[in-house]
Amino acid sequence: MEAKRLAAEKAVEFVEDGMIVGLGTGSTVAYAIDKLGELVKQGLKIRGIATSTRSEKLARERGIDLVTFAGVNQIDLTIDGADEVDPDWNLIKGGGGALLREKIVAAASKRLIIIVDESKVVQRLGQFPLPVEVVPFGYEVTMRKLTELGYNPQLRTTDGQPYITDNGNYILDCRMGQLDKPGETHDHLNRMVGVVDNGLFIGYASQVIVGYHNGLVKELSKRIH
Ligand code: 5RP
Repeated sequence: MEAKRLAAEKAVEFVEDGMIVGLGTGSTVAYAIDKLGELVKQGLKIRGIATSTRSEKLARERGIDLVTFAGVNQIDLTIDGADEVDPDWNLIKGGGGALLREKIVAAASKRLIIIVDESKVVQRLGQFPLPVEVVPFGYEVTMRKLTELGYNPQLRTTDGQPYITDNGNYILDCRMGQLDKPGETHDHLNRMVGVVDNGLFIGYASQVIVGYHNGLVKELSKRIH
């Protein structure tokens, strides 16, 4: 889709020679990986660190050298997508199931550029179901607890089987409507036994680039409090 590609290609302009680049996951990031691959063929020297087996495969196919955290402590710049972005640049991520690796990479990055099309920009997070990664063992009890607490969890499935993340876990998609205090929701969920992490990214984004269907691409300003 054009709007996603526009945002992705704008973000790639911030990549410089010699950088370690975090590669997010999803259809928007796929355009960024394509573009980076083209630039690498023209001589750009970067090393990538992927947030999913899908992005790893794509990056390899595009000729991007990959590294792991065994050899890297800090990432210069990460480019990743999002399912929702609010005016404070808080995010819901994990629609593609890669939230845990994405958060590990975001936390290790000096800079995180989020790329989205205009449909992802919202006033309040929560319209998109919040992905919560849980340990398969006893997930039924974790799910019951989340239900009691009003999170309305639903087990993510593919072909009738539980969807399994790259980390061997399950995902519960939680529909609880608008989130008034996303930071509190994040902390509350992550304190629950059985929960590995959730798709709320609070305070990680350093820049948000939005592609529009009319061909424009703009940086989203952050709300001033
Ligand atoms: C994957 C993610 C993605 O960044 C998010 O789902 C957006 O995907 P897309 O670019 O395909 O719309 O968080 O875990």
